[in-house]
Amino acid sequence: MTHPAARPPAAITPVLYGGATVRDVANADCDWDHFDSASYFEHNYSTARQADIEIARIIARHFAETCRVYPTGGRAIDAGAGANLYPALAMLPFAEDVLLSERAESNRLWLKDQIEHPAPSWTDFWRVISGGRKTYEDVSDFRQALRRRAHVEEGDVFALPTAEYNLGTMFFVAESITTMNKEFRRAITSFVGSLKVKAPFAAAFMKDSSGYRVGGRDYPACPVDESDIRRSFAEIAHDVKLETIEDTEVRSGYAGMIVVTGRAGKK
Ligand SMILES: C[S@@+](CC[C@H](N)C(=O)[O-])C[C@H]1O[C@@H](n2cnc3c(N)ncnc32)[C@H](O)[C@@H]1O
Repeated sequence: MTHPAARPPAAITPVLYGGATVRDVANADCDWDHFDSASYFEHNYSTARQADIEIARIIARHFAETCRVYPTGGRAIDAGAGANLYPALAMLPFAEDVLLSERAESNRLWLKDQIEHPAPSWTDFWRVISGGRKTYEDVSDFRQALRRRAHVEEGDVFALPTAEYNLGTMFFVAESITTMNKEFRRAITSFVGSLKVKAPFAAAFMKDSSGYRVGGRDYPACPVDESDIRRSFAEIAHDVKLETIEDTEVRSGYAGMIVVTGRAGKK
């Protein structure tokens, strides 16, 4: 199943990368700077879909609970933010500074524009995230908070600083930037390592994805399931919870999305 701007789908034919079927595509092999942000956004986030609504609720509940018990303030990171603002929105009340870290120049420009002029669907996501959660409801205008707190920087998930951030998100990145399992694991280790010990985090993964197409370009994916993901977080995080979200609304045949919440470091 392919779509012009699909997120990493499951069970599609092997990625045809550069016109030929290839076995391994490393992160460095891809032309990220021309990632078609508008097309990706249009397909995935221009309306709030049921699966994303469920994920948004899970991560907002996690941050509301953990950040209440362990007040954070300080700095947040969304690693590989792409053309998605809802992970950043979920962190907004808990950080004075929300870094949207992105390798692709196209996505950095798109993010800067969206911070100034958010698309209407982010209001729908904000309603889902904030509804019934006081800390979020206390933010009087999320657009203003976004403009004040969020900023965009060039960043490589494999080269993040160590123990720097108080909370973080990484959505559809580790498994969707490479076909190589070792790079998938390295991205998770680097992301969690960029957080301070006990920092709450949320991450999302496509299950069993074998590649995806955005605006006519093919991108690689590393097929992973719950046990791969659980193993990758086992030694580096605690209070880790996984939930698999069915995504039947428009993507029948997908194996679903896996959302992980937890806190960085060993207990
Ligand atoms: C499938 S998209 C996910 C985007 C977004 N986080 C979301 O939730 O939809 C993968 C993203 O990872 C970015 N990316 C690729 N390689 C990266 C790297 N080495 N470091 C940081 N981001 C990277 C891409 O530019 C793209 O925005």
